[in-house]
Amino acid sequence: MLAVAILAAGKGTRMRSTLPKVLHKLNGKSILSRVLDTCFELNPDKVFIIVGHKNDVIQKSFENYKFANKINFVLQDPQIGTGHAIQVLSKELKTFKGKLLVLNGDVPLIESKTLKGLIKFHDKKQADASIITTTLENPFGYGRVFLKNDQIDKIIEEKDCNNDQRTNKVINSGIYCFDYKSLKNTLTKLTNNNSQKEYYITDAIFLLNKSVSYKIINSDEIKGINNRIQLSECEEIIQKKLTKIHMLNGVTFINPSSTTISEDCEIGKDVVIECNTHIRGKTKIENNCIIGPNTFIESSFIKENSIISNSSIYNSEIMENVRIGPYSHIRPESKISKNCKIGNFVETKNSYLSESVKVNHLSYVGDCSVGKFTNIGAGTITANFDGLKKHKSIIGENCLIGSNSVLISPIKIGDSVTIGAGSILNKKVENNSLAISRVKQVNIKNWKKSNL
Ligand code: UD1
Ligand code: MG
Repeated sequence: MLAVAILAAGKGTRMRSTLPKVLHKLNGKSILSRVLDTCFELNPDKVFIIVGHKNDVIQKSFENYKFANKINFVLQDPQIGTGHAIQVLSKELKTFKGKLLVLNGDVPLIESKTLKGLIKFHDKKQADASIITTTLENPFGYGRVFLKNDQIDKIIEEKDCNNDQRTNKVINSGIYCFDYKSLKNTLTKLTNNNSQKEYYITDAIFLLNKSVSYKIINSDEIKGINNRIQLSECEEIIQKKLTKIHMLNGVTFINPSSTTISEDCEIGKDVVIECNTHIRGKTKIENNCIIGPNTFIESSFIKENSIISNSSIYNSEIMENVRIGPYSHIRPESKISKNCKIGNFVETKNSYLSESVKVNHLSYVGDCSVGKFTNIGAGTITANFDGLKKHKSIIGENCLIGSNSVLISPIKIGDSVTIGAGSILNKKVENNSLAISRVKQVNIKNWKKSNL
């Protein structure tokens, strides 16, 4: 039997935040949901999350979690230490026999294969406790692990170490596999005789007969997050890992450290990601695209051979061989078909642009469908909002929409229509027509300014 307890009740004081520490996000997912995802990869028999500080906010954030029905929240109030958290949990485990894997809710990069290794090691050693440890060049803030005859003698928190003990670089990851029966006997013996006046789970190690160290080399995995510096360091670890995977798969990053990408992002071969480009959500970019510089793409699909520079794209579909930018804003539900060109300071929203449409400069295309080969002149606006409701515009194929036109929606413009520049239209235009609605030009000959 395997039970997992995730400690997440602490105040997270060092984050200096109103949001509970474990709900801060790393690459779009909360710190705690990352620990949970990893935990469920182990197929545990029972999963407990120890909550306390702002427990209502934490519980609510997991209402729609994929394994929500398998999570047992245990309330720790007051929050007086990691050992106290396990004392509170013990009331739920009265008849439990087996292994208790304890994870810190603020150590999110741990991988399931490492946890499986820990459990296997624990079984082999027949230990009371097996603890993931590593050696850190800068161990500041972590509990230091002291060994004696190949076993762990004790763990002393940074704050409780003397100067000599503080030089020890072997640290406690906060991840433990316990034989629960043995652990249970130590829980009542924990004291709060330390600088923080808390009951530490680490003190149980000293009380147990056999505690062993499962040393790992990749210390990135057990990085704890106590403040925002460590949060950004974890984000950097994730980003470095992701860009490395994509580079090995045939993607060029001109300056990887200026780029951020999500774990749900798929990128094809020979794609070039220019500097300062950020790709979020479930985005797919096909082969041979050039993305960036200075581009933001969220949850969108970009087909092959497209070039997007200095632009933002949200929840949209861009077909093959499209040019977007510089400075275009592609808002949600835009579908841009193949060979289209969207130019500078153009905004699209909830619109379907058929193939080879050009909207090259300073236009707004909202709630609109545009037929193939239509050219929308500079400064054209679909006036889609009447103050109460949004309306649709339908523009046919092979049209030439003159610059600075306003199409007041709802409106239908037929195929092969030409619209005179500067027109304001609110009536249907038949196929093959010229529509023009501007004031006629008047030239007054020999006109001079009057002397005032
Ligand atoms: C803890 C370990 C330290 C280890 C480090 C690894 C203890 C005493 N120290 O220190 O040896 O090197 O993790 O990252 O365990 N929590 C509760 N209830 C509480 C207090 C804390 O559930 O009453 C939770 C927190 O929400 C957090 C986790 O336990 O997720 C660890 O607490 P934290 O205060 O961050 O301990 P560290 O100082 O990081
Ligand atoms: Mg911590």
